[in-house]
Amino acid sequence: MRRHVKMLIFAAAVIGMLAILLLFQALRSENEVALFVTGGAEGFLEPCGCRTSPAGGISRRVTLIEGARAENPSRKIIPVELPPLFMDRGPAKDVINRAFGEFLESRGYFVSPGPGDLQFGEKLRQYYRGDYCLAGEAGFRDGEVVELGGFKHLPFGKKGRLRLLFISETGLSERKLPDPLTLFREKIREAPDDAYIVMGNLSPVTIQEMVKEKVRLLAAVSVWGHMVTSLPQKADNTWAIFLGDKGRRYVLIEIGYFDGRWEAWPRTEYIGKDLKGDPTVDRSVEETLKKAAEMNAAELGRKLSAPSGKAFTGSASCGRCHAKEYAVWKQTRHSSATATLEIDHQEGNPECLVCHTTAFGKGGYPDRKELFEGVGCESCHEPGEGHPPGPQAAMKQGSRNCGSCHTRRDSPNFNEEIYFRMIEHGSGRKEGAVTPETRSEK
Ligand code: HEC
Ligand code: HEC
Ligand code: HEC
Ligand code: HEC
Repeated sequence: MRRHVKMLIFAAAVIGMLAILLLFQALRSENEVALFVTGGAEGFLEPCGCRTSPAGGISRRVTLIEGARAENPSRKIIPVELPPLFMDRGPAKDVINRAFGEFLESRGYFVSPGPGDLQFGEKLRQYYRGDYCLAGEAGFRDGEVVELGGFKHLPFGKKGRLRLLFISETGLSERKLPDPLTLFREKIREAPDDAYIVMGNLSPVTIQEMVKEKVRLLAAVSVWGHMVTSLPQKADNTWAIFLGDKGRRYVLIEIGYFDGRWEAWPRTEYIGKDLKGDPTVDRSVEETLKKAAEMNAAELGRKLSAPSGKAFTGSASCGRCHAKEYAVWKQTRHSSATATLEIDHQEGNPECLVCHTTAFGKGGYPDRKELFEGVGCESCHEPGEGHPPGPQAAMKQGSRNCGSCHTRRDSPNFNEEIYFRMIEHGSGRKEGAVTPETRSEK
């Protein structure tokens, strides 16, 4: 009899403790959530595993997310990926994008495609099959197409709910999207008492306007064109956070409900070179990059070309007589444009090399790589064969054809006058040259 009572008391105690634990857990989870946000990756699985400043990469994210979990195991961490998500250049893009999508899926990411990603249409589904895929013009949720500005209700918030709102605007993309402000206003009108965090491809101007709305907007997180990451800044009561650098930065936003209102505490940081990655992810990234390199090489092999018309001779050959121009050119970023691609592991990607080398596929790069690395003289001047005494006048013509490479997408700040001043090199005097002056001296 006594034993039964003891056992009953013991059982009651256990149940009681469990109940307290559960309640405690429920209360904690209501207050302790953190968003781990990265963005603008464009399929760069390891944007910079390079010599110069190794940063970024999906593998290191795992370390960071696990670290944040370990810091506070009861806190719920929600990883979020902002657009542009996927790579749209090069023969290996499908392979890379699928690997990236699988990573996001396997880590339970909350994913939002932007205007640039929507060009993939149905293919998006091949890249990413996770449950939530909102924002942009249309997205997917549970396999269904959902409207722009999708919500995710966080599973907490008795007094006031917190909503994550994903909105992107057209920006540099070809894809026209609805006006982000109209959309934002529509959404907050549906639930004006809720708190919000808005995320996506949003211009600074748009965010400024959103901040002015009479609603509790905790934070606006955006990836915008070539804008680089800035430290979180507070405008009124809203944190404005810009992420960039092809997934090289993250922001951890801690969120809590205190004294009757939602609060957010963000901190941005580099996904730094000192971080070790997750070995399993490292291995699969390595495999994917290797496969991509093979596909690039095969495509590059097909790009070998027979020169038609006059032959390109390479910048070094011009340098023999135009020493001054050559020296100036060496100082500009044009001369190192091919090496720049190594930073992103894209030195073999034909679709990048078109603009980052000289005479690509026209008898220059990749036929004789060493001669045609960088944006050389003959990217702007005529092919060198037959000059001199060939037509120097023709060399001048068309040399301001900057726009073929300095497109809106790849060089959004391009201004011909300013940019030309930065590369200006005409000295007028050629060493060993037979110029009109020297000719008359003879
Ligand atoms: C063997 C020496 C030599 C080499 C090599 C050479 N040039 Fe010239 N280049 C000259 C001379 C000499 C003139 C100027 C003749 C004149 O002013 O009438 C000239 C003129 C020019 C001009 C026109 C300048 C002007 O004031 O009108 C351009 C542009 C030019 N060269 C570009 C190049 C480029 C690009 C290459 C390499 C593909 C190259 N040159 C290779 C000797 C050379
Ligand atoms: C064949 C393609 C191509 C052409 C043509 C071209 N550029 Fe460039 N340009 C590039 C690339 C690629 C870079 C970036 C190089 C890098 O950072 O590695 C660049 C970089 C520059 C930069 C450096 C910008 C900076 O922030 O430092 C200037 C300035 C520039 N180009 C001016 C011009 C001008 C002016 C013209 C036309 C006269 C021109 N370019 C034509 C491809 C080109
Ligand atoms: C249509 C031509 C073009 C193509 C294609 C192109 N680039 Fe560029 N890229 C440029 C120009 C022009 C610049 C210089 C932009 C500036 O400074 O205004 C540049 C700059 C860069 C830079 C350094 C500047 C920066 O801050 O980003 C990197 C890195 C780069 N490109 C990588 C790539 C990669 C990787 C690809 C292929 C996936 C690629 N580019 C394809 C034209 C191009
Ligand atoms: C990004 C394009 C670009 C590149 C790269 C470039 N040039 Fe030029 N170059 C120009 C333009 C543009 C002019 C001036 C024509 C004008 O006034 O519009 C010019 C002018 C010149 C002139 C004539 C200067 C004068 O006094 O009239 C020479 C010579 C010349 N370049 C040689 C070179 C050599 C040699 C190289 C490589 C080492 C080179 N350029 C690389 C675009 C380029």
